Amino acid sequence: MPVTVVVGTQWGDEGKAKVIDLLSRDHSHVVRYQGGHNAGHTVVVGDEKYALQLVPSGVLYGHVTPVIGNGVVVDLPTLFREVETLESRGVSCARLRVSSRAHLIFPWHQAHDALAEGKRGADKIGTTLKGIGPAYADKARRVGIRAGEVLDAAVFADTVRRRANEENATLVALGGTALDVEAIVAQFTDLAHRIAPYVADTVNELHDALEGGADILLEGAQATFLDIDHGTYPYVTSSNPVAGGACAGSGLGPRDITRVVGIAKAYTTRVGSGPFPTELVGADGEPDTLGQALIDIGHEYGTVTGRRRRTGWLDLVMLRHAVRVNSLTEIALTKLDVLDTFDEVKVCTDYRLEGGMLRGYPDRSEVLAQVEPVYATLPGWKTSLRGASAFSDLPPNARQLVELVEKNVGVPVTMVGTGPERDDCVVRG
Ligand code: IMP
Repeated sequence: MPVTVVVGTQWGDEGKAKVIDLLSRDHSHVVRYQGGHNAGHTVVVGDEKYALQLVPSGVLYGHVTPVIGNGVVVDLPTLFREVETLESRGVSCARLRVSSRAHLIFPWHQAHDALAEGKRGADKIGTTLKGIGPAYADKARRVGIRAGEVLDAAVFADTVRRRANEENATLVALGGTALDVEAIVAQFTDLAHRIAPYVADTVNELHDALEGGADILLEGAQATFLDIDHGTYPYVTSSNPVAGGACAGSGLGPRDITRVVGIAKAYTTRVGSGPFPTELVGADGEPDTLGQALIDIGHEYGTVTGRRRRTGWLDLVMLRHAVRVNSLTEIALTKLDVLDTFDEVKVCTDYRLEGGMLRGYPDRSEVLAQVEPVYATLPGWKTSLRGASAFSDLPPNARQLVELVEKNVGVPVTMVGTGPERDDCVVRG
């Protein structure tokens, strides 16, 4: 399996890191292809918990070359905080490669993110305020600064100064506060010096590795329904997490990809705003009893922002659409154990709209906000899944849920998450 893509099939936080960690064992390169430090990937290894935002989680394996691909937007202060934390815990980051084509995030991007969200009032997107959207906007406006530019320190400092002055004028015109230009130049001159040894032509390096027989894992952040084209626009992120984005964001071609694993949590969560048909929420907008149970048992709080996630039942209409737009070859169903204590489990199989059934996933958020989920109700299994080592070890009611998913979405479920630890996972051959 030379090139595998791992992609979230919901609104993020599906537990991708654990599956990526599992698959990393069989891959020589793990490549992030989009997003930035808005992502939060948590890997639990024994008593150790690693919370990663930018460095691909494959870094935890000595045999893996972790690569930050060209499609990522890189916040250098965050990257070095992460590298320092990892190295202080004995994890070497010396093998890390950062694409020379990746765009850098600067303080003005964060200032613009905050200013724009402030102005949206009640219509907030609920961004992570990390400057992700403004950094991608600058990339599209062709005024972004790429990692490769750090290699000429003097030119880099001049470019940063010029862009900081331009952005200060815009920030002030929009009612914001000017940033300290020379402080930014000094900070980024230092960061440029530190990042330079990691900067590489990762596109050619990955192709060379592939020709040499490497197995490469392309790691998506966020997810299908946060994709700027295929997600619930405008409540989306600013990049393309879908599997197609893995090609643009790594430089590998579509025919290089052999396997696409979609990660789906056994229920659904979302942070930030936007329609959520299967949300378990009361009339007051607060989680209902079952929604709160999912939050408590599943620890559904954002890794990056600490925000409480919105929770709801598994939505197979979403999943079927995710199979389509990502060409999924299989699904990994995570956190099934979170449902261990539930008397019954619901799964949304269809959407009803104005008395009829919708055929596909709605193309507009306004329509999605109006659909009524149609549920299949399954009996709970009321026992712990921890310790299951084969699919046949799972209680029949849990297997029934997995089989319902497979039947509805048309691809096999090849992995099932049974607990938080690294090895709490059933893999089907
Ligand atoms: P941004 O990516 O910070 O611009 O935020 C846009 C939307 O994507 C917001 O609803 C965020 O909460 C959401 N988002 C961004 N990154 C993640 C993630 O890693 N997990 C879940 N939601 C995310």
